[in-house]
Amino acid sequence: MTIRSKRKEEHLQLAQKFYQKEKMNSFDQVHVIRPALPETEVDLATIKTTMFGKKVAAPFFINAMTGGSAKSYIVNKALGQVARRTNIALALGSASILNKEPEQLDSFLIAREENPDGVLIANINGKTLPEQAQKIITELNADALQVHLNAVQEIAMPEGERNFYWLDNLKDLRQKITVPIIIKEVGFGLDPKTICTLKKAGFKLFDVAGSGGTNFAQIENARNPKDLSYLNDIGLPTVVSALAAAKQQVEFIVSGGVRNPLDVFKGLCLGGKYVGISNQFLQTLLNHDEEYLQKTIVNWQQELAGLLAIYGQHSLSDLSNIPKYYDLELKNIIEQI
Ligand code: FNR
Repeated sequence: MTIRSKRKEEHLQLAQKFYQKEKMNSFDQVHVIRPALPETEVDLATIKTTMFGKKVAAPFFINAMTGGSAKSYIVNKALGQVARRTNIALALGSASILNKEPEQLDSFLIAREENPDGVLIANINGKTLPEQAQKIITELNADALQVHLNAVQEIAMPEGERNFYWLDNLKDLRQKITVPIIIKEVGFGLDPKTICTLKKAGFKLFDVAGSGGTNFAQIENARNPKDLSYLNDIGLPTVVSALAAAKQQVEFIVSGGVRNPLDVFKGLCLGGKYVGISNQFLQTLLNHDEEYLQKTIVNWQQELAGLLAIYGQHSLSDLSNIPKYYDLELKNIIEQI
């Protein structure tokens, strides 16, 4: 097994090791106000939406995780099946490995084979060149491309990148790639300045991927003979990052630490167009099987429709206008940012 492939397997193992189902995070500091007289009924049609021109059953999706190893093949096969059966979008893990190890293509392609018509999002790192990115998009028949910005993770990774000059390449990707591009973090949150810089460079869709869920400093630290655990807490919480994106008036995805349908609902109320879930769904799959994950996602769809009903909503379009308030600790952070 190559060092890159081994890393992908270790990420899957360590995401499982450090997973805490009920861990508190910034979603707990957001409170949405509910009308006691909602005048609604539960209707799955209220949560249907479109993503990159395709109809999906819900505004939440399975966010980027894996690809590039034997275990990744099994996980992506299952995720492809579940995404098709539940009609939600699926983002794959970074395919930049294919530039060096094209023989790993099958571990990504299997998700497209299992879900030929659904929304599939490819994922690359910030230094992958446009020609390489286009090859990946074509091979996977991807509907959109995520580009991840993961400087903290790279620094915590013993074999990681030490050069973070990505902007020129991002601009080049922006010029040459024709599918929609999503700029995302990997769990440390996008900050207002980066969103502003990239908005000026023409990017339109951001995935805040804030802290509160999977912590890649912790995961990489477990692979690192050096102790860099001081990096574990430097992320921007998901809710803070989402509010920063809303202020910049860009379209954005809320992700990082989404644990249940109420977090999805809160993400949409914060102004998120979509909500991404990674480790929560991965652990549901790994601790049970794909049928159980499928049932879980169907339940989340029903429960999200239930939340719209109890919050007096007939569609996804007005959720960001529902009154809400924040715990003082969070309000204080928001005011300082
Ligand atoms: C990830 N994540 C990730 N992100 C990315 O852009 N490219 C990638 O290759 C990966 N790989 C990866 C592997 C595993 C095992 C996990 C759990 C996660 C990060 C992911 O997309 C997300 O931003 C964070 O995990 C935070 O969301 P959750 O897990 O708290 O919902």
